Parts: sequence; structure tokens; C-alpha cells
Amino acid sequence: MSDTATGLPAIAFIGAGSMGGALIRGLVAAGVSVDGGIRAVNRTEAKAAPLRELGVTSLAYETQDDATERVLRGAKVVVLGVKPAGIPDVLDEIAGLLEPDAVVVSIAAGVTLASMADRVTNPVVRTMPNTPSLVRQGITGIAAGPRATTSIVALVSRVFETVGRVVVLPEDRIDALSAISGSGPAYVYLFAEALTEAARRLGFGEEDARVLAEGTFVGAAALLDASGEDPAELRRRVTSPKGTTERAIAVLEAADLPATFTAAAEAAVARARELAQG
Ligand SMILES: NC(=O)c1ccc[n+]([C@@H]2O[C@H](COP(=O)([O-])OP(=O)(O)OC[C@H]3O[C@@H](n4cnc5c(N)ncnc54)[C@H](OP(=O)(O)O)[C@@H]3O)[C@@H](O)[C@H]2O)c1
Repeated sequence: MSDTATGLPAIAFIGAGSMGGALIRGLVAAGVSVDGGIRAVNRTEAKAAPLRELGVTSLAYETQDDATERVLRGAKVVVLGVKPAGIPDVLDEIAGLLEPDAVVVSIAAGVTLASMADRVTNPVVRTMPNTPSLVRQGITGIAAGPRATTSIVALVSRVFETVGRVVVLPEDRIDALSAISGSGPAYVYLFAEALTEAARRLGFGEEDARVLAEGTFVGAAALLDASGEDPAELRRRVTSPKGTTERAIAVLEAADLPATFTAAAEAAVARARELAQG
């Protein structure tokens, strides 16, 4: 992650909800200077207002007809943060409003670079960030599309590096990346929920169950990060031969988690392909 990236050009978000909002919050938290500022447009004032408190120029269609035009004026990086189904209409709407040297960056799952390049003449880049970008611990995959030069990819990388780590890869790998790091936070939370439920079933009250399970997740992840050790090695250190953890791990291993996770990731890839076909 680069804390020193400075002088990013003006960035406009078309749609800043859960993911777009996470990116904006990460950018603001990173304290990077953005020449021309961070701008955002949403349909509703309810979505626009909270972003204004961050110092973002945040507009809503429902209160300003020319909101899109205003946020795009001077913007050199235009991030599309709407749902995948909304991308074609948004591209058609912004095509004539983009600065000639602006790069259009999609964060939408399953929307191909070719389908974007059909609608705008500007360079296009496809990305897949994840929600830990909100706390600047994100992982973003970046694939360059038509007209996206090395320097454009470097610029987009700098934007996303303010909120975590970046992996540049060919587009045909982005659905696979998305199935791991894009959807991955949901898998981790599901695990946390399951461990919390196990704590309840062992007789802990709601609050204690959450402290035990969530605290263990956060602590174990922090140890993984801080130690630089392999997860298998960290697991080995908790697992004394013939001990209690060994028994528990044997039960989990019987569930063949690698096969389950692979099936889950493959389901995510299949869904991304369905979305790409419209
Ligand atoms: N959530 C994730 O973890 C995640 C991870 C990676 C990628 N993504 C991608 O991020 C994109 C957004 O997902 P999300 O979860 O952030 O959805 P979301 O919370 O529903 O955000 C979408 C935002 O777009 C706004 N919007 C809708 N139509 C618009 C339009 N025509 N012009 C301007 N703004 C418009 C909505 O505003 P109003 O509510 O005011 O209509 C809303 O704030 C999707 O393409 C998804 O594939 C999400």
C-alpha cells in the first residue's frame, strides 16, 4: 500500500454505495491529495448526503438534473460503482460527457471490457476491489482494456493502492480473482457467524459468543498478517499432538473444506459468466 501517492487527478464516482463508498472512504482516510477533488453522484440524496461529510463533492440526481455532468467535468478517473445491470445505461449516459483523456474504471462483477469499449471511446479498465478497502486493507484486481496504456493502468493502480493491495492481471483471470478476494470477505464473515453460533450452542450468551468468535477471527488474522508465517504453520502451533484442537481440526477436515471452498468459488465464477452474458 502506498501512503506516499500524491497528486492524483480528479476522480468521479458514478454510483457510490457499499463498494464505491468504501473506496471513497479509503481514499479520504489515506489522505491522498486529489487535484480537483473526489466527486460522486448517486440517484438519491439519502446516499449522497453522508459522503458530503467526508469532504467529497457528492450530488444526487433527484435534486440536481445535471449532477452527472458536474461531477464529470475535469474528472480524469471515472469509477462506475453502480450494479452490473446498470453499467450499459450509465456508459450511454456519460459517453458524451467524459473528458477526452479520462479513463473509465468499472468495479462491476461480470461486466466485460469489450462491452464497455462498445459504448465509450475512452480507455476502459476493469477492476474487482473488495470491501476491506474501507479500512485500507483491500485487494483489487485490475485488468486493462482497449486504449488503456501502461501509464493509465499505473494511474488506476495508484488510486486503488491507496486502499490496499493491487494485482494487475489479464481480464480472463478477473472472475477467478473475484471469486476469491471479491466475494471472499463474505466467506470469512460466514465463518465468523458459524463460530459464533457454535459458541451459543456451547452455552455462551449472545455478547460473549460474539466476543469469543469475532475476537478470535480478528486476532488470528492480525497474527497472520504480523507474523508473516504460513497459515498452516500458525495452525500447527495451536494444535498440540493428541490435544483438543487436533480433535476439532479432524472434524473440520472431514468436511473437506478445500472442496467446499472450490465449489463455492466455482459457483461465483459461473455466476460472473452468467452476468457477462446479460
Ligand atoms: N459489495 C461488494 O463487496 C463488491 C465488491 C466488488 C465489486 N462490487 C461491485 O460494486 C458495484 C456496486 O455494488 P454495491 O454493493 O456497492 O451496490 P450498492 O450499495 O447498491 O451501490 C450502488 C450505488 O449506485 C447508485 N446508483 C444506482 N444507479 C445509479 C445511476 N444510474 N447513477 C448514479 N448512481 C446510481 C445507488 O444509489 P441510490 O441508492 O441512491 O440509487 C447506490 O448508491 C457492483 O457493480 C458490484 O459488482 C461490489
